[in-house]
Amino acid sequence: MQSKINQYTAEIAVFKPATANELEVFRIRFLGTKGILKDLFEDFKTVSIEEKKIFGKVLNEFKQYTETVYNDFKAQLESGESTQKPDIDLTLPGIGLQTGGRHPLNLVRKEIIGIFKRLGFVLAEGPEIEDDWHNFSALNFAEEHPARDMQDTFFVASPNSRVNDDKTKNTYALRTHTSSVQVRLMEAGKPPFRALMPGRVYRNEAISARAHCFFHQVEGLYVDEKVSFADLKQTLYYFVQELYGEGTKVRFRPSYFPFTEPSAEMDISCTICKGDGCQMCKQSGWVEILGCGMIDPNVLENVGIDSKKYSGFAFGMGIERITNLKYQIKDLRLFSENDIRFLKQFQSEII
Ligand code: DAH
Repeated sequence: MQSKINQYTAEIAVFKPATANELEVFRIRFLGTKGILKDLFEDFKTVSIEEKKIFGKVLNEFKQYTETVYNDFKAQLESGESTQKPDIDLTLPGIGLQTGGRHPLNLVRKEIIGIFKRLGFVLAEGPEIEDDWHNFSALNFAEEHPARDMQDTFFVASPNSRVNDDKTKNTYALRTHTSSVQVRLMEAGKPPFRALMPGRVYRNEAISARAHCFFHQVEGLYVDEKVSFADLKQTLYYFVQELYGEGTKVRFRPSYFPFTEPSAEMDISCTICKGDGCQMCKQSGWVEILGCGMIDPNVLENVGIDSKKYSGFAFGMGIERITNLKYQIKDLRLFSENDIRFLKQFQSEII
C-alpha cells in the first residue's frame, strides 16, 4: 500500500494539465467514485489493526494532497493563469554567490580614519589636479626646490595657462602630496581646524616593487590657540597604540619639510620583529611611518591666519607603508594590479 501511494504521489508531482478536460480526467481517475482513492480506502479496510494506525495517517495525507493539487489547478485554469510548472529541479544544489572583500588599502585607511575620528578629527578632501600655489608655494617651497622639478612631478598642461601669467596660479600638476588639502582647508575657513585628509598622490617614479607613480596618503592638521609640540606627540602616540597595539614604541627624529618648523619623522618599533632586528627594519628595530611638525608661521600667514595668535601641527603618512607593516606586503605593485588571488586574502577582514 505504501509503495502504491509513493508511486501515485510521484505521478501527481509532475502532473501539469493544460486544459480543463485533462484536469477532469485526473479527477475521475483519482477522486472519482470508482477512482484510485476509493480503491485505496477499500484496501485499507483489509489491513491489520497495527497497520491501520500507520496507514490511516498516510492515506489521509495522500487524499488531502490529491485534493489540494486538484483544487489549485482548478482555480488556476478558471482564472486563466498558466498551469505549466517551470522545468527546474528544485532539489539541485544552488550556485553560491562569490562575496567581495575590501581592498587592503581601504581597510587600513578606514582604520586610520576611525582612530582620528575618536579624537575629534573631521574628514576633508581636495582635488588631485592641483595648482602650484596649493601644492608648493603656499607650503613654503622655495622657487628652486627640487620637488618642483619635472623629474619628480607630473605637470599638467592647462588651457588657461598663458605666458607671463602668475606662475603660481597657472601651473598645474598631479598633486605630489595631500599637504595641498591643508592649504585649501585653511583658506576656506577659520581656526580652529582639526581635520584628516586622505587621498591619492602622484610622483614621477619608475614603477618597481618599492616605488610607484601613484600611492595614497593621509594628512592630518590641527590648528588652534596654544597648540604645542607636546600635543603633536601625544596625538601620534595615541594613534600608534590604537593601530599597532599597546606597547608599540615611538621615537621622533629631527627632519626637514618646507612647511613645518620644527619638523620630525616618526619611527615606531618594528611591528614584524618587535625591535629585535629583521629585513623590514633593516636590522635597526625601528621603521619610519610618517613626517610631521609644527606648521611654519609662513604657511599660516599664506592662508590668512594670524601666526601670532594661532599655532598648529601637521603630519602626513603613506597608507601603503602602514599597510605593508600590518600585512607584510613586499611588492607595492600588488596594490594596483587587482590580482584576485591577492585581494581574496583580505576577504574576511571586513570592517
Ligand atoms: N607631505 C610630506 C610628504 O609627502 C609628508 C608630510 C610631512 C606631511 C610633514 C606633513 C608634515 O603634514 O607635517 O612626504
